[in-house]
Amino acid sequence: MKSYLETTKDVYKNAALKPDVGLCCTTTPVWQLPGLKIPKIMQEMNYGCGSTVHPRDLVNSPRILYVGVGGGMELLQFAYFSRLKSGVIGVDVVDEMLDASAANFKIAEKENDWFSI
Ligand SMILES: C[S@@+](CC[C@H](N)C(=O)[O-])C[C@H]1O[C@@H](n2cnc3c(N)ncnc32)[C@H](O)[C@@H]1O
Repeated sequence: MKSYLETTKDVYKNAALKPDVGLCCTTTPVWQLPGLKIPKIMQEMNYGCGSTVHPRDLVNSPRILYVGVGGGMELLQFAYFSRLKSGVIGVDVVDEMLDASAANFKIAEKENDWFSI
């Protein structure tokens, strides 16, 4: 029998390979901020349950390690407020999710002139 950790990985592997819009309990509307364009694919891969991004956490310009980057939407939002070179680093235990977020960041880079990967 698979452990719950392996089952979790499988769930997110599948969600990385094919966006699953209704997978998680997202409750917040997409952020509308000046100069921030969140690619459609990132919105479709929003697997959070409310936002973990709080600009007030960025006082004193910390570098951010984002664990469980998913499709990358919240990393992009942190980067929007941070604006530091290598200021936000995303990790994930699911390789397919890392591949998907890397592709999504390329799209985000094209749509946001302030964002660079
Ligand atoms: C609920 S999603 C959140 C994704 C993203 N932060 C968001 O808000 O859309 C959880 C993320 O953690 C990763 N993950 C899966 N199993 C994990 C584990 N056991 N420990 C840490 N992260 C895990 C998944 O691949 C997925 O990207």
